[in-house]
Amino acid sequence: MPLGCSASSQYQDFIKIVSDVDEMQRSCQALRAAGKRIAFVPTMGYLHEGHLSLLHEGRRRGDVLVLSVFVNPAQFGAGEDLDRYPRDFARDEQLAREAGVDLIFCPQAEEVYPPDFSSAVDVEGALTGTLEGACRPGHFRGVATVVAKLFNIVQPHLALFGRKDFQQLAMVRQMVRDLNFPVEIQGMPIVREEDGLAMSSRNVYLSTGERRQSLALVDSLRLAAHLFASGERDADVLLDRVRARLQAEPDLVIDYVKLCHRDTLVEVTRADARSVLLLAVKIGNTRLIDNHILHEEV
Ligand code: PAJ
Repeated sequence: MPLGCSASSQYQDFIKIVSDVDEMQRSCQALRAAGKRIAFVPTMGYLHEGHLSLLHEGRRRGDVLVLSVFVNPAQFGAGEDLDRYPRDFARDEQLAREAGVDLIFCPQAEEVYPPDFSSAVDVEGALTGTLEGACRPGHFRGVATVVAKLFNIVQPHLALFGRKDFQQLAMVRQMVRDLNFPVEIQGMPIVREEDGLAMSSRNVYLSTGERRQSLALVDSLRLAAHLFASGERDADVLLDRVRARLQAEPDLVIDYVKLCHRDTLVEVTRADARSVLLLAVKIGNTRLIDNHILHEEV
């Protein structure tokens, strides 16, 4: 059994914890053959309410609920936070039990990427060349590759992804279409803390002062939604106001603030009901992203 992946005894009958790829694939194949509808939630662990909302919807929509917990090295760039990414498998396991997960897949990196691993999935074009793709070269290739592998291992009927990672969701939909994965993709709303900060495993990195400044993200999105509701349609005006709100925080550095078409992620100059405002900032050593579809309420 790999480190940090302990099968505790009390509920052993109700949840299965698997770290071996072949065993996981066989288990899922058997469930599929038995006519079970498999709902799948891929994560990097350190679960929070955002992840749990995906699990609850998956529980509702599937006969079998599968969770993966895998901090995927391939999607972290050099100098990013792979080594310090928060991990707490015992807590994840407990939360998974409470959410009614049937199977947790928690492989080690060498199990997913053996030494002779040589393949990758690239979703090319405008969808991945911009925003996160521009700021984090190789990131989406790492995500697409691991999600494709997980789909082949778990063979889910349904997979659930959060709109918190708006571009990731769009890319997964594109990959599923392009490569004919027989998987339905369900996007889920962003879950926020009571004060509005989008939930993220990375929020634990924030100091008290940074945590306070991070509220500028949701504030600026609310400001844009309010301006849009009052009739403002000029992207430059909206983006300037958002940037000004973010720049009011001393430790906040903007990576990007963009207004895009919600499906293509192509930048727009005029806002409409299909426009999404996406932003990424750094606060100290922590990088945070958030987004909002302008005509919706934050
Ligand atoms: P991770 O960041 O752990 O997120 C797992 C899933 O939870 C993603 O679909 C993400 O969008 C969703 N999620 C995270 N925060 C959320 C929030 N506040 N509200 C709603 N959903 C939220 O995203 C990844 O892992 C990885 O890239 C992965 C897809 C697992 C591939 O390695």
